[in-house]
Amino acid sequence: MSRQANRATAATAGQPRKRRATRATPCPPVSTCDASNVIPERLLEWFDRHGRHDLPWQHPRTPYRVWLSEVMLQQTQVSVVIDYFNRFVTALPDLPALAAAPQDQVLALWSGLGYYTRARHLHTAAKLCMERHAGELPRDIDALLALPGIGRSTAGAILSQSWNDPAPILDGNVKRVLCRVFGIAGWPGTPAVEKQLWTIAETLLPRERPADWTQAQMDLGATVCTHANPDCKACPLREACVARAKGRTSELPAPRAAKPLPLREAHMLILRDGDGRVLLERRPPVGLWASLWSLPEQPDLEQSRRWYHRHFQSGFDHAQPLQPLLHGFSHYKLKIQPLVIAVNVERAVIADNGQLRWTTPAELSGLGLPAPVRKLLQEPKA
Ligand code: ADE
Repeated sequence: MSRQANRATAATAGQPRKRRATRATPCPPVSTCDASNVIPERLLEWFDRHGRHDLPWQHPRTPYRVWLSEVMLQQTQVSVVIDYFNRFVTALPDLPALAAAPQDQVLALWSGLGYYTRARHLHTAAKLCMERHAGELPRDIDALLALPGIGRSTAGAILSQSWNDPAPILDGNVKRVLCRVFGIAGWPGTPAVEKQLWTIAETLLPRERPADWTQAQMDLGATVCTHANPDCKACPLREACVARAKGRTSELPAPRAAKPLPLREAHMLILRDGDGRVLLERRPPVGLWASLWSLPEQPDLEQSRRWYHRHFQSGFDHAQPLQPLLHGFSHYKLKIQPLVIAVNVERAVIADNGQLRWTTPAELSGLGLPAPVRKLLQEPKA
């Protein structure tokens, strides 16, 4: 039994836990019932009829497939993830295959999903599972949390969905549902609010059907209790919902206090040779876009000239600036100034090596590239 599951039980120790029927029986408004009984009953009943039962990672629902899907879904919607998931498991069907794969293959399979740290962590975690857990994902909260890229909610989702273990989750969808149903004020990313939400998540956790409970909460958040225009009429928790009763669904959960993000600028060089190949440079192994293939990048035009001179032993005659591209990161915005430069000097001056490579358009699709770089290279003028 996982420690998480024990914690969940401890959190409800003050309130005797009744055995729950899996079907809701007629019930007076939730506010007069014990919410920790009624909410799971109603939500599970709704899930049986309206939940998502045919997602690719549910058939078969192995720990590896659940883990992969959870990591892919950390910042990306189901509709986008499905194709990536199917491609990934076709190429790397189990944890040992992932652990043995070259990093470039993993990054290429991830290419387009963004947040590449997730892919690197997944790869590292698979290798650690080979060393520590005989090539399996551990069925233990602490061992899962010790793996890179697995936080408390992802660990809960893995335990509950893979093994039907009673472990709570608290992803963005669940935070939104709980903030509304329980009328919780404050941005859910604040430690105090998050702590409160975990306590509620533990209290609600039903002993029966934990896998369905996890999926039901996610599905309600994704399809009914949506960020904008929630469909309260279709919600099985509408009678319990404090936000609905008080007309505050559009205010809850409270948004993060807006902070203007700093703007940084960079020049990206789109260097093309006479055969239409483009020069890519590998990013350093740590930091932004770590280890991905990208375009040579310099802070400004002057340093771009110096970079070019250093590598080609000549200056460039003509650089065509393209429309700048604005890319948002969590902590700053990046204004990218692309410069297209035709390279007429001997290409052999720069030979392919671990850090630089001349790449054909066909090869680009098989490489892990940062999303704005891929976008730039797809532009007709680039
Ligand atoms: N988001 C995170 N995990 C999910 C899942 N299993 N199904 C749908 N959306 C999710």
